[in-house]
Amino acid sequence: MEQRIITHSHNYKDLDDWIKTNGCKKLLMVCDGSIAYQEAFNNHLDEIIKTGVEIIRFQDFQSNPLYENVVNGVRLCRAKNCDSIIAVGGGSAIDVAKCIKLYGNLLGDGENGSWLNAEYVENNIPFLAMPTTAGTGSEATRYAVIYYEGKKQSITSESFIPKTVLMDPDTLKTLPDYHKKATMCDALCHAIESYWSVNSTDESKEYSKKAIQAVMEHMEGYLNNTENGRGGMLRAANMAGKAINISQTTAGHAMCYKITSLFGCAHGHAAILCDRVLFPWMVKNTDKCIDPRGEEYMKKTLDEIGQAMGCKNASEGAVKLVQIFDDLGLEVPVATDEQFEELKTSVNPVRLKNHPIALDVETIDRLYHDVL
Ligand SMILES: [Fe+2]
Repeated sequence: MEQRIITHSHNYKDLDDWIKTNGCKKLLMVCDGSIAYQEAFNNHLDEIIKTGVEIIRFQDFQSNPLYENVVNGVRLCRAKNCDSIIAVGGGSAIDVAKCIKLYGNLLGDGENGSWLNAEYVENNIPFLAMPTTAGTGSEATRYAVIYYEGKKQSITSESFIPKTVLMDPDTLKTLPDYHKKATMCDALCHAIESYWSVNSTDESKEYSKKAIQAVMEHMEGYLNNTENGRGGMLRAANMAGKAINISQTTAGHAMCYKITSLFGCAHGHAAILCDRVLFPWMVKNTDKCIDPRGEEYMKKTLDEIGQAMGCKNASEGAVKLVQIFDDLGLEVPVATDEQFEELKTSVNPVRLKNHPIALDVETIDRLYHDVL
């Protein structure tokens, strides 16, 4: 499915057209706290309401959204007879909206986790996403993460990928500095990990390459808050999302989750902490390649990542990644011996299977000692 990207230009004309074309009368708007800062967009919502379209807000979810949050969203959607859904926010808001769409026409009320294992029935509820961070790429993937009874649930469905994405560079204007840096690192790590993933394809690599190049091109403008930089980073994050939608992420992401939970770093911060150590380690360990395409292929792949970053080869690319991390001034947490023990057994082996170079527990332990 080709995803349509629309912009905010001409006072959100494309959004108005989307509403008209889809005949939306009652719009469920799943949004997080960032909506409060979207001045131009909020003003435009008032205009939309004046045309007789009802906008029903759903904001009642947390940053690691719960299954119950989604159930409440579906209840509201049904009670108000909503005919369309738009998501405005970061990865969590988009994931919640995706699940509301997916569960919207299932039977029952979702009690006791019943929708988690239900057979999905595709529906045509018009669904648009407007990301307000340039990072997760959730608007481009068939994955959503919610929690049920304390356990992470990865919900997967092609059918809930929004067909239309509204990219409004203004949404990133007021993003706090740390959040801005961390989300950009998340997008960059998605693109890099996707490129070297054992599941990569020509198509995913094309997306990754373009995403890496776009992150490099727009990093300065984005960090200096130019409109061009913000727009470029939104596109980069979306392309990186399209890349991981095909290839999934690898060891860097598998290793970063525990760092987030132990030290409270943002997800993208934790991801680059890991990838800045993994990349140079991989360059030196291509002989342990488990990608069926072989060691020579892997060397070439790593070189191509370096080249997409504007460097001569993989080794220079790996140095550049460390440089980017250092220049951003992101903190390196300090771990205790107990925390290192916990970290080394925390890595999900399923995700490690996507990684092209073999990793055992001892290696993971050594890498964590370099990461932190
Ligand atoms: Fe990520």
